[in-house]
Amino acid sequence: MKKETLFTHIGRPKAGLGTPVSTSITRASTLLFERAEDLYRKDVRGYGRHGSQVHDHLKEAFIALEGGEHCALVPSGLASCTIAIMACVEAGDHILLTDSAYGPTYSFCQTFLKKMGVETTIYDPRIGADIEALIQDNTKVILLESPGSLTFEIQDLPAICKIAKARGVTTIIDNTWSAGITLSPLALGVDISAHAATKYFGGHSDILFGAIISKNKTLGNSIDKTAKAIGLATSPDDAYQILRGFRTIMPRFSQSEASALQLATWLESRDEVAQVLHPALASHPDHAIWKRDFTGGACIFAIVLKPVSASQVLAFINALNIFGIGYSYGGFESLCIHCDPQLRRDHGDKFDGPLVRFACGLEHADDLQADIEQALRALK
Ligand SMILES: Cc1ncc(COP(=O)(O)O)c(C=O)c1O
Repeated sequence: MKKETLFTHIGRPKAGLGTPVSTSITRASTLLFERAEDLYRKDVRGYGRHGSQVHDHLKEAFIALEGGEHCALVPSGLASCTIAIMACVEAGDHILLTDSAYGPTYSFCQTFLKKMGVETTIYDPRIGADIEALIQDNTKVILLESPGSLTFEIQDLPAICKIAKARGVTTIIDNTWSAGITLSPLALGVDISAHAATKYFGGHSDILFGAIISKNKTLGNSIDKTAKAIGLATSPDDAYQILRGFRTIMPRFSQSEASALQLATWLESRDEVAQVLHPALASHPDHAIWKRDFTGGACIFAIVLKPVSASQVLAFINALNIFGIGYSYGGFESLCIHCDPQLRRDHGDKFDGPLVRFACGLEHADDLQADIEQALRALK
């Protein structure tokens, strides 16, 4: 079944006599039992933190999306990465983290994990099979993100996963960029796919949510135990909204993906632009790997401007009328940020000019293009 059809029908109540189309929200911390004998049963939900039917239906949808066997729901995209890592490590272990990882994931590894006695080595996102040289006896996790946050390097997932598998190392990918729509990492050998469902699944920039989908139930149970021990829970209202996001994600994703490609292609021809970082462009250094592993793009890409002052970059972004100035992507509205203040890279490309990231929403691509065109005048 194609994703459009699957996402229309998955995780819905069975039709009966006047059944609502969508799963109803059940709000509860306490769940009541008629008989005291049932309080400690293992086969029924005992307490609100353990979820509800809408949570179960949302998990079904994420499992179908990724072709996994287990899904855990967490309160944010960042938590999807941190809980997945924590489920796989203990004091004395070591992890490998791509240099292109989302900033707060990087900070979590450098601060919190370190405090817990877990060491992190940062690796070049383009390392491929050479990652083997960095694997130590105590390496438990390789954290992947493809394309990289801000800099859009594509990783050779099959090559890295093959080595990881042979060495008994668990691979975790932050799969937020593709939303699982244009990349299926579990099919390429990755063990765990983590999502900031905040982005495309929320779709309206008003919810924080995360999902962790794993290839097998053993990994899934460790993730559940970790989230449960820490006391994480997600609200049924948020779970409902994320499941609702599944119903329309395909056309929303396609439209914003097409807009991003239109803008990226056009920006390549602009004098003010030194480089466009979008893996679907033939000029992208990892285009061949992207073509092999991905089925499409996403709503987000970046440009490297020819050298201008920091104040000119701010003037350019402040001159945008349709693009909002704000972090994130996958919502209905377009966004833009300048990246340099948060850019840190030990490996990979160094850019001569400032980096600016665009996230396309659902406005018409021609209007977005016209907005950037008029704002570029502020660079002069
Ligand atoms: C690639 C990536 N991963 C994770 C996150 C974190 O998601 P959340 O804001 O839901 O914690 C973000 C948010 O921008 C992101 O871009």
